[in-house]
Parts: sequence; C-alpha cells; structure tokens
Amino acid sequence: MKKKTISFELSVYETLGALNEQDRDLMHMAIEARKDAYAPYSNFMVGAAVLLANGKTVIGSNQENASYPSGLCAERVAVFQAGAKYPGVTIKSIAITAMSKTHLVEKPAAPCGNCRQAISEYEFKQKSPIELLLMAEKGEIIKCQSLADILPLGFNSSYL
Ligand code: THU
Repeated sequence: MKKKTISFELSVYETLGALNEQDRDLMHMAIEARKDAYAPYSNFMVGAAVLLANGKTVIGSNQENASYPSGLCAERVAVFQAGAKYPGVTIKSIAITAMSKTHLVEKPAAPCGNCRQAISEYEFKQKSPIELLLMAEKGEIIKCQSLADILPLGFNSSYL
C-alpha cells in the first residue's frame, strides 16, 4: 500500500485593488452580473464572468425555478453561454462572486460540485488550465490556478 497526498496552491488577495487589472475587470463584470441573478427562493445571488482567449467576455447569474432542480448556477449559465457563443475558444478564467440578501456571506463561495464537473469538461477539452477568481460580496479574493485543483480525481472523457 502506498499513500499519496494531493495538494494545491492558491493565492489570496486582500482586496479587489490587489488584483491585476485583467482579473479586477473580470470580477467587476461578475459583480454586475450578480445583480441580475434570479434567486427568489434562496435569496443567494451569484454572478460569474468568463474571459476567453479571444479577449471576449461572457457573463452569467444564477437562474432559479419554482421546480428547484430546474434552476442553474451562475457558473454554468456563463460557461454554457461561452460554449454556445464562442465554440472551441479557450476559456482563460472565470470570476465568481456570491452574496445573500439575508445574511453576510463571509468567505468566497467556490463552485458547487456540478459546476466543477461542467467547467472541468472545458478544461480537459482545451488542455489548458482555467483560472478561478472567487469572492463573496466583498473582502478577500481567492485565485485558483486550475479547475482541476478543486476537482481532484475528476472524471473525464478519457475514461470512456
Ligand atoms: N449557486 C450558484 O449559482 N453557484 C454556486 O457555485 C453555488 C450555488 C446558486 C444556485 C442557487 O440558485 C443558489 O445559488 C443557492 O444554492
């Protein structure tokens, strides 16, 4: 029997001002997108902004439904929109910001398991890492270098 450790490095920025201009602009787009979240059931508003290799950006926000599972997270709205509008164009990074209408969200929200799997599909296909920038309503920003970092032992098409 062998034991293995899987670890990864992330960066923590104290404020938006500490980000480089490109990351800061992307997070500002996610903040704007968050305002258009349709979240009457959870009151949890999430915005996402995707930066593509061609310089284009695409936004998304969570869209809920009275039949709860029919809703979709902000990240998937954004990456699916990117895939539909700019098929085959590499995704460079995704900024995600979340806030609640009922309480202060104190730490950056990371993508849910379904979103990790959905984003990993694109990362695996394009063979280059997708950076993640995570923020709550305000406060520190976490930057991950690759989606794969937060989905260790992930499943992808190489198994099929
Ligand atoms: N949500 C997202 O949009 N992204 C996540 O990564 C976590 C959860 C949404 C789904 C639902 O509309 C609300 O937040 C509460 O779960």
